[in-house]
Amino acid sequence: MKQDNPLTKPIHFNEVLEAAVADPSRRQILRGGLGLSALSFLGLAGCGGGGGGGTSVANALNFTATPLNATYDGVSVASGYQTQVLYKLGDPINTTTPAYSNLGTEPSASFDFRAGDHHDGMYFFGLGANGKWDEDVSDRGILCINHEAITPLFLHPNGPTLSSGTGTDFNTYLNNTRNTATSAEEVQKEFRLHGVSIIEVVKVNGKYEVNKASAFNRRITTLTPMVINGPLKGHASQVTKYSPTGNEARGTLNNCASGYTPWGTYLTCEENWANYFRKTDLTGRTANEIASESRYGLSGSNAATGREGWSHVGAGDDYARWDLNIKGANAAADFRNEANTFGFNVEIDPFSPTSTPRKRTAMGRFNHEGAWVGPVTVGKPVVFYMGCDAEDEYIYKFVSTANWSASDINGGLAAGDKYLDSGKLYVAKYNSNFTGEWLDLTAVSTGTQAVGSLTFTFGNSSDAYLNTRLTADKVGATQMDRPEWGAVNPRNGEVYVTLTKSDSKRPVLEVDAANPRSHTDKTGTGQGRSTAGNPNGHIIRWREGSSNPAALTFEWDIYVFGAETDDIGKANVNLSGLTAENFLSAPDGLWFSHKTGILYIQTDDSAFLTEADGGSTCMLLAAIPGTVGDGNTVDVVNSVSGVTKTVTTKVGKVGQLKRLLTGPIGSEITGITESYDGKTLFINIQHPGESTTLANLAAPDSSWPYANSTTPDGNPPTSTTAKTNRPRSATIVLTRIDGGVVGTDFTLY
Ligand code: FEO
Ligand code: CA
Ligand code: CA
Ligand code: CA
Repeated sequence: MKQDNPLTKPIHFNEVLEAAVADPSRRQILRGGLGLSALSFLGLAGCGGGGGGGTSVANALNFTATPLNATYDGVSVASGYQTQVLYKLGDPINTTTPAYSNLGTEPSASFDFRAGDHHDGMYFFGLGANGKWDEDVSDRGILCINHEAITPLFLHPNGPTLSSGTGTDFNTYLNNTRNTATSAEEVQKEFRLHGVSIIEVVKVNGKYEVNKASAFNRRITTLTPMVINGPLKGHASQVTKYSPTGNEARGTLNNCASGYTPWGTYLTCEENWANYFRKTDLTGRTANEIASESRYGLSGSNAATGREGWSHVGAGDDYARWDLNIKGANAAADFRNEANTFGFNVEIDPFSPTSTPRKRTAMGRFNHEGAWVGPVTVGKPVVFYMGCDAEDEYIYKFVSTANWSASDINGGLAAGDKYLDSGKLYVAKYNSNFTGEWLDLTAVSTGTQAVGSLTFTFGNSSDAYLNTRLTADKVGATQMDRPEWGAVNPRNGEVYVTLTKSDSKRPVLEVDAANPRSHTDKTGTGQGRSTAGNPNGHIIRWREGSSNPAALTFEWDIYVFGAETDDIGKANVNLSGLTAENFLSAPDGLWFSHKTGILYIQTDDSAFLTEADGGSTCMLLAAIPGTVGDGNTVDVVNSVSGVTKTVTTKVGKVGQLKRLLTGPIGSEITGITESYDGKTLFINIQHPGESTTLANLAAPDSSWPYANSTTPDGNPPTSTTAKTNRPRSATIVLTRIDGGVVGTDFTLY
């Protein structure tokens, strides 16, 4: 049915909410996203009296955009807003672990009870007095936070100890050989700095703090025992020395974005896991194994050492497991299959601190960015949207076999077994006429797929789950410009996914309607940019057929194209007409507010900072987007070095879009969740000062959060405190100074 457009005719969310509170099943539908019944219900909600009734919401965002920031080493927010640092790298999560020195001197074992590094995806679960998930509770919650990776320089007294190579900063430390005499303790620490934090947070005197005495507090790391669930449980590919049955695995790795389930558990998603493994010898591998490993990047530039050089540092399986070379008599005698146990979504029950996390193999194996639940309706399947974060990779959808029952709320991992271990796995194809199709990966059972000069032969029922990327290649899915986060509009069920950028795999002749830009960027080489591609990224969105999340067809358009300050007037680049209040590049994190329906966009673009004509640190923006198809059809003329291709695409109306926050030097803004009352956003500041070198460790590029950690009046100060402390990734809390709902004073719907 046709809906009122909330941009011009607001519907009263409070009326909807009051009715929903009287009907718990409907309330669940509302907060998990809108099912068909809820859509109908919203359509019936009138517009008379109270709230923003009758008022145009043309200026619904209640702040003035904060400016671009290239020099201030702190978090800057719009006037009327403030931030507070909540949970930093190394912070203790119990009452007996001492405060963090930030000098790299703590013993590795203490990191079983300390915050990890590189905070990323997260979710706030309201914590009821009964110890269960309660969406009516905002002042007490369990915050689940991913720790994606590490900045090794800051974690040890003088950076990692190497036996070869000349590591000086984050990038040069990669792929080096660790000094075996001194590195075991360093590496044990690094094992624990990855993974997930589960911490109870409580509002005390109006401010959230970590409850260090909470029994819910827990660290999940690369060492934590896990169970393999779903179609790959007990499969030959999962057999390792750690688990000769193939039923278990050890740890989770490179946990990027995340998701929550409608039954109240956390999904943490394994992204760039392939980099961590050493692999130098193909002897004994089958043709399919070699093709598969090539497709997943296991034979790439990190293969000689593994990204952090963890293998062979010390004696024992803790280190040996990062080396994939065949060494034993069979798969149960070595770690040849260890990489097959990564690349999954992992379900964690934050309300059960002793529960064993489960790898949900039915959701496929790739560079999982995150998992975002679609509109939930009683009696219908539960749907999750997922992206594979690499250039030319795909967008996926999982549709559960089981139909949703509200009685499974707070059902923990047993509910997860019901909904996540069996279902259909689809990949998206975006057609040039702005329709799309979900292609069934589980239907592929025969044929071959080329990987460069290699060939993969289908025929194993596990192919869609273990070799999801190859299966998606086979069915002809659309290669996208690096899928990062997704988010589902609670107003109408439309799905948004960031396509952060493509530096090398989108030459002019390979543009298509869904990835329509390839142009030269002025910043050129040496700053993460190629001479052509889609360096600033875009956000695609779609509406499922009949607004049914399990539908096999959809309609799509592009909500917004990133653009920089020097792109003003370039009609084929600044396709969304961005201006000073919303220039953005490389969109990454996305979040639709449960409360207000505002779309928040986070960016990850270190290259923007170095723009000669006015760059910026990474940022958070707020938007009130319209709907799929609300804009125009546009011919994009791409022309680089005499090669030209014009492609027709559909560009949405941007509507209101304003920058709310900018980050410290060298940081990425990633990870976002909110309290259910809409008064608090939790935001992660990842890897501040990441380009610091060993030579300037005593005067790093960033000392955040030590210096100028907040600017309550909104604008960057003109001077900064001297930088001497090592920077720390951290979770911050963003609130309005007057305590109101973040982003808007209107009832948007
Ligand atoms: Fe970990 Fe896709 O960024
Ligand atoms: Ca530029
Ligand atoms: Ca990301
Ligand atoms: Ca990123």
